[in-house]
Amino acid sequence: MKQLTVLAIFLLFAVIFVACSQETEKKQAVAKSEVLPAKPMALMMRAIYEQSAEMRDWVEDGKPLDSSYFRFMEFHTLEPTDSTVLVAVFYEHNQDFKAAFEALIAAGPNKEKYNALLTQCVSCHEDFCPGPIKRINKLRINS
Ligand code: HEC
Repeated sequence: MKQLTVLAIFLLFAVIFVACSQETEKKQAVAKSEVLPAKPMALMMRAIYEQSAEMRDWVEDGKPLDSSYFRFMEFHTLEPTDSTVLVAVFYEHNQDFKAAFEALIAAGPNKEKYNALLTQCVSCHEDFCPGPIKRINKLRINS
């Protein structure tokens, strides 16, 4: 029983480490999904990533960003993998992120405003979850 508890604690830390560390090996991702299901905040973050990729396509195509289609996702109210992220700076980053999101929607297909949104993603990730930064930067519109 004691051994099981130790194992459970070890696995929990392993998952937290994997969730926010560099996404280098596929093996790690598989291990993560086999151990524990992703937390609600992580799942919404994946949806936000997909939403950002879709926004990039619309901006590149010069299509106005429909505010009823691209809705801001309130991920900060959801349970994270690591509850220690829920500190004041995290919520401040979320406010800046939301402002950048609204500025982009209001501006329509605007490359600078789109990249400014990604800068907010990265800014929060530098403080709380550095693993996906490389992937997030790949969403940028160059030139
Ligand atoms: C206010 C802080 C904050 C902002 C802003 C933010 N993120 Fe995150 N993101 C996090 C945290 C914290 C996690 C870890 C969530 C967890 O594991 O529960 C995360 C996780 C992720 C993940 C990994 C999800 C997984 O599979 O485990 C991706 C990808 C991601 N974010 C992309 C983005 C993108 C793209 C943006 C901007 C459009 C963004 N994030 C904006 C804090 C933020």
